[in-house]
Amino acid sequence: MPIDIERTGAVATITVNNPDRLNALNSTLLKELYATIRSVAADDAIRAIVFTGAGDRSFIAGADISEMAGLTEHEAQAFARLGHAVASAFEQAPQPVIAAVNGFALGGGCELALAADFRFASENAVFAQPEVGLGIPPGWGGTQRLVRAVGEGFAAEMIYTGRRVKADEALHVGLVNRVVPQGEVLETARLTAVAIADNAGSAVRLSKRLIQRGREAASAAALAEEAHAFASVFGGHDQREGMDAFLAKREAAFDHE
Ligand code: COA
Repeated sequence: MPIDIERTGAVATITVNNPDRLNALNSTLLKELYATIRSVAADDAIRAIVFTGAGDRSFIAGADISEMAGLTEHEAQAFARLGHAVASAFEQAPQPVIAAVNGFALGGGCELALAADFRFASENAVFAQPEVGLGIPPGWGGTQRLVRAVGEGFAAEMIYTGRRVKADEALHVGLVNRVVPQGEVLETARLTAVAIADNAGSAVRLSKRLIQRGREAASAAALAEEAHAFASVFGGHDQREGMDAFLAKREAAFDHE
C-alpha cells in the first residue's frame, strides 16, 4: 500500500510508502493520506500518531513534480487545497502527531512535517523549500508554518533561496526537537509517542487543542491566500520552465525581465 498504517497499542504509525519516488506525493497519494489520517484521528483507542516515510533516504521529497508540471491554475488551486487539507488533518487530529523525518523533507515534505506537533530527525535529514527554483511559491502551508517554527528571518531565507538545511542546523533553529542516528528516528518517535499515550489522554488532547487555538484565526486567511498565489503562477513561463527543467534533468532558464 502506498500509505501504510500500523497500530501498536495506543500508537498509530502512518508511513508514506513510495520509496522509488522518494515518497513524493501525487494527488492520489494525498487523498489516501488524508483518508488515513482522518480514520486514525477518529479512533479513540489511538492516543498518539507517528508520521514517517518508507526507506532510509527520504521522508517526503515533496509534491510530485511530474503531476504539477501539467496543472492549470484551477487544478493547481485544488492541488494546494488538498495539501492544506492533509496538513490541517494532522493539526485537527485530537492526538499529538510526531514527524519522524528520515531523510529528504523537501517542499511539501517539509510543509507536512511542519503540520506535525513536533519533529525528530535522523542525522541524514535534509529540509528545504525549493519551490522558487521550480518557478512557484510554497503551496502547502510553508509560508505560514515554517515562519511559526523557525521565525520569519530564517523562514524567509529558506523560502527565497531554497537552500538545504541539514539536521544539525535544523536542530539549532528549532525546526526539529532532536537528532538521532540514522535508523533510530522511527523508534525514538514511537517511544515518545508511547510516553505521550501513557499520560492522561483527555489532558493531552485538551493541551493540543489549546496550542492549536492560538494560531487558528490568523492562519485560515493566510493559507487561503497562499493557495491562491500558488495557483496563480501555473501556466506562466517560470512554472512551466522550472518543472520542465527538473523533469528533463537540466538547469532552468527563468524569465528575469
Ligand atoms: N516529484 C516527482 N518525482 C520526484 C520528486 C518529486 N518531488 N522527487 C524525486 N522524484 C523522483 C525522481 O524524479 C526520480 O525518478 P526517476 O527514477 O524516474 O528519474 C526518483 O524520484 C529518484 O530521485 P533522484 O532525483 O533520481 O534521486 P537523487 O538522489 O539524485 O536526488 C532529490 C534526490 C530529492 C535531491 C531530487 O530527487 C530532487 O531534487 N527532488 C525534487 C525535490 C523538490 O523540488 N521537491 C519540492 C517539490 S514542490
